[in-house]
Amino acid sequence: MRPSSRSRIPAFDVMRITDEIARRRLAGHDVVSLCAGEPSARPAPGTLKPAGYTGPLGTTPLREAIAGHYRTWYGVEVDPGRVAVTTGSSGAFQLVFLAAFDPGDRVALASPGYPAYRNILTALGVQVVEIPTGVDTRYQPTPALLDAAVAAHGELAGLIVASPANPTGTMLNRTELAALAEWCRARDVRLISDEIYHGITFPAPGQPDPRGVSAAELDPEAIVINSFSKYWGMTGWRLGWAILPPSLVAPLEALASNFALSPPAPAQELAMRAFTEETYAERDAVVDGFARARELILDAEPALGWGTAAPSDGAFYYYSELGPLLERYGSATEYARVLLERADVAVVPGVDFDPVNGDRAVRLSYAAGEAAVAEALERILRFQSA
Ligand SMILES: Cc1ncc(COP(=O)(O)O)c(C=O)c1O
Repeated sequence: MRPSSRSRIPAFDVMRITDEIARRRLAGHDVVSLCAGEPSARPAPGTLKPAGYTGPLGTTPLREAIAGHYRTWYGVEVDPGRVAVTTGSSGAFQLVFLAAFDPGDRVALASPGYPAYRNILTALGVQVVEIPTGVDTRYQPTPALLDAAVAAHGELAGLIVASPANPTGTMLNRTELAALAEWCRARDVRLISDEIYHGITFPAPGQPDPRGVSAAELDPEAIVINSFSKYWGMTGWRLGWAILPPSLVAPLEALASNFALSPPAPAQELAMRAFTEETYAERDAVVDGFARARELILDAEPALGWGTAAPSDGAFYYYSELGPLLERYGSATEYARVLLERADVAVVPGVDFDPVNGDRAVRLSYAAGEAAVAEALERILRFQSA
């Protein structure tokens, strides 16, 4: 698999040299830089250091810390040189899709799925192959579904998977992800694994891979995308990362150094605190709160009387067909509209995630926590019985 032809652009050399300067300073050299076009950094408030540009793929200490996270959680060695720090996983999608695919390439993804995959690929001229999924495959693609997609649409250049997924929360276990990785490797299809909801999982006691299985454990050619937004609750810091196959590092660096120059420096500094025992414990306590909110929804299933729901393995989403309620409201969009108007409860109709069948389903996010979910459920039940 080659990098895309459109990623054959020169890196912005200033940013590469900026990176080299930072590395040398870290190693104790007294470097005088007449390199970057940046004023001396303005003093930052509080404990933050003054922030200038960093290397285009992030600071060396953060890239090393992210690699360390893979050792801690997954027991896998990742070369920090393969880590690209980005402006959220959203920034990683743009750069990775540009680096990996050319216009006209076909990339498959599960429907329902996170809408930005489809929309960014479309904006970049990449052809999206939607794989309709249902509860029978836990709303995840399978090798058989991929074979069918190839038969219907032609050879694929890429596959995007998400586990836990948005909007369904469903996960791929090790065997299932390995089967997809194997299918991709055998056909030179790039596997992109969105692991942004890793750690927000609700495993049964003793279940293997409680944080989720990373594609980084299975195939060094897979592209892993993750973020500080969800498990770490740092959405507004706009920081994410990608683990790249070695052949995509230089293309991505060239793109990043031109498109973004560098990821935000203060956010990178703060993110250095993300991978400590204390932070993991603090975030796991937050996930325990999501687990309690999730239980409330699962307990309310009979009373809600909706249709088929996706098994909510992780993330903080519950995705369910509306079943008998569809007769009354006609669509999930209408149900959500009336629910908001009459009961002041906001849920998301599924049409954004699945333009074909999504208007039969709604997504509830239980990220708001136990109290908000309890209140919402009470209002929904009152609304439905009125
Ligand atoms: C599946 C998935 N991937 C990626 C993102 C983007 O997150 P960010 O850009 O904040 O990392 C989201 C946000 O909701 C998401 O649900």
